[in-house]
Amino acid sequence: MFGGGDDAPELTRLQNLEAAHDPLTFAMLRQAGISPGKICADIGAGAGSVARYMAEQVGGEGRVDAVDLDQRFLGGLPDCARQVTLDITKDDLGEAVYDIIHARFLLIHLHEADRAVDAMWRALKPGGALVLEDANFHAAYSASPDPSISESVNNVGAAVLEMFRGRGLDPGFGLRIPSMLDARGAESVVVETSAPLVRGGTPMGVLSGESKHFLRKDLIATGLASEEDVAVYHRATHDPLVWGMYHCTVSVLGLKPRI
Ligand SMILES: C[S@@+](CC[C@H](N)C(=O)[O-])C[C@H]1O[C@@H](n2cnc3c(N)ncnc32)[C@H](O)[C@@H]1O
Repeated sequence: MFGGGDDAPELTRLQNLEAAHDPLTFAMLRQAGISPGKICADIGAGAGSVARYMAEQVGGEGRVDAVDLDQRFLGGLPDCARQVTLDITKDDLGEAVYDIIHARFLLIHLHEADRAVDAMWRALKPGGALVLEDANFHAAYSASPDPSISESVNNVGAAVLEMFRGRGLDPGFGLRIPSMLDARGAESVVVETSAPLVRGGTPMGVLSGESKHFLRKDLIATGLASEEDVAVYHRATHDPLVWGMYHCTVSVLGLKPRI
C-alpha cells in the first residue's frame, strides 16, 4: 500500500509508526517470554525497531530473523540478527524453527493473510508464541469540537474504510486475529487493545497525517473525501491543539500447543 514512494518520507513514516506502537509491542513480547537464547522472527520488519529490541533481549546465544520483502529500511541490526528477504505469503519460513514470531501491521495489507499466518504457525516450535498486531480503522474518529475540522477528519476516516474494502481488504482486520489464533488451536490467548486519543504532532498524529497524504489520490477516488478534506486532516494531525483517535491496535498473543 505504501510501496513506490520516496525513501526518506517512508522511513520517517515507519519511524513514527514505531514510536507510536513499540511500547505495547515490547510489553507483548515480554509477556511472550522473550529472554536470552530465544530464536525469534519479526515478519514485515519495516525499519527494524522490533527486530532490534528482540536482539537486545535474546543476546548472543539467541537469534533474530528480520524478515521483509523490502529490505530498504532495515539496517543497523546487531550481530545476532540477520536480514531475511522473503514473501511470507509464498515462501517457506521452515518448520518448528522459532520460539517467538511477531508481525505488526502486515496482515491487514495482505489478500493471503491466512496463508501468511499458516506459514508463521508452522514455523513456530511447539510451546512457541505467536504475537500478531494489527489495526482496526473503525475506531478512528475526530475529537475536535470545530465542525470544519471534524467533518473533514471523519470524511477521510470513511474514505479509509472504503479504500480498504475497494481493494478486497478488511479495514477492521485486527478484530479478526483472536479467531484466527483460535482456529489454529492456540492456547492461552491474550488480547490487548490500544486506541489512544492523541494530540496532533505526536508520532501517532504525524503517522496518520503522512499516511493519508501519501494515499490521498486513492482516498479522493472513493468519492467520500475531497482534496480539501485530506489537507484539513493533514493540518489537524500536525496541530498540537487538535485531538483525534486514528485507529485501534489489536495485539494478540497465542501459544502453539506442545505435542
Ligand atoms: C506497514 S509496514 C510495518 C512495519 C513494521 N512491522 C512495524 O510495525 O514497524 C509493513 C511491512 O511489511 C512488509 N511486507 C509487506 N508484504 C510482505 C510480504 N508478503 N512478506 C514479507 N514482508 C511484507 C513491507 O515491506 C513493510 O516493511
